Amino acid sequence: MAERRVYRATTTAPVNIAVVKYWGKRDPKLNLPTNSSLSVTLSQADLRTLTTASCSASYPAEEGDSLVLNGEPSDVSGARTQACFRELRARRAALEAADPSLPKLSTMPLRLVSENNFPTAAGLASSAAGFAALVRAIADLYELPASPSELSLIARQGSGSACRSLFGGYVAWRMGEAADGSDSTAEQVADASHWPDMRALILVVSAAKKGVSSTSGMQQTVATSGLFRERIARVVPQNMAAMEKAIRERDFASFAEVTMRDSNSFHATCADTYPPIFYMNDVSRAAIRAVEQINAAAGRTVAAYTFDAGPNAVIYYLEKDTEAVVGTLYHVLGGDISGWKDAVVKGLKPSLSLDEGVAGILKSGVSRVIMTGVGEGPIKTDEHLIAEDGSRIR
Ligand code: DP6
Repeated sequence: MAERRVYRATTTAPVNIAVVKYWGKRDPKLNLPTNSSLSVTLSQADLRTLTTASCSASYPAEEGDSLVLNGEPSDVSGARTQACFRELRARRAALEAADPSLPKLSTMPLRLVSENNFPTAAGLASSAAGFAALVRAIADLYELPASPSELSLIARQGSGSACRSLFGGYVAWRMGEAADGSDSTAEQVADASHWPDMRALILVVSAAKKGVSSTSGMQQTVATSGLFRERIARVVPQNMAAMEKAIRERDFASFAEVTMRDSNSFHATCADTYPPIFYMNDVSRAAIRAVEQINAAAGRTVAAYTFDAGPNAVIYYLEKDTEAVVGTLYHVLGGDISGWKDAVVKGLKPSLSLDEGVAGILKSGVSRVIMTGVGEGPIKTDEHLIAEDGSRIR
């Protein structure tokens, strides 16, 4: 019976870590940013969200749309998720209106199941991968002819940074000018293979308590920080141009300097927010010192740190400098915390030494590491989380 049929599509989507940060909305409803931003898409072998989107006329209408995230029912009534559903349904409805032979998927309840391959406890922002996977999976379910850029416009309304997770490699989110947000989309600056030796080491720092969410933190900054105005008027436009050039030319020293300066600038505007917001802690600051000491001892820039709205350090480095960067941190942190990849750390010597105070703070405050690289955008898969009869597989 055709009307009992369960329609399904499954996709994975990556995490991205910005090297020029998005911080501030000029329109909170449409999630339109005060500045452009640029990120690196991380490999899905280590960090990804897997989402199955399904719909069926057999799903009880009174249940409405639903989402199970990491095994737990998750609220879909929020304005951001609703905006994504609305935009995607409108595009499907337009296809159905143009071709009446198409099944009326836009009228059926949506059932979504989603899971991350990394522990929530890692404290990594998963909303970017989550909304990117949700939008891509529903777009595939609805067989929308939309390009990743057009989908980025929808994912942006779920979470700003999610628009960048629709692409692999190096991705710019152009802030745009239009009041309706139609030109505020993401685009690829370079694909993952453009700079294949780029690596990322994430130092997961346990936060004592949850900090201010990025959504509310950035609007407090917009409302109260004078320094922020300088950042969006001059600092970010310069950093965007310098970053795109550094990536184009595979110039790690420039990439690293802009990455570190932009992270510092973003956290300075947080400190200039009134009352101030602090995302970094003593362990984060020790990670900054460690990177500086590694670069000084190496005699050139081999590592770059960046921090989002939390204490975790993301350290970018090139594969050829694995010994200087990973070797040094592996010997400081010890092999007993989780996340080291044996194939990488085996035989690495502690080539450079860190100041004892810095090493001690890192050793006591880093709870695990994630070793990864640059990766692809969303990938369609048959590894469905919803069975053909509409039931959850896991
Ligand atoms: C510091 O994308 O989480 O990670 O749009 O309100 O969902 P919302 O904010 P979100 O902010 C990310 C902020 C950041 C910088 C970045 O990723 O560019």
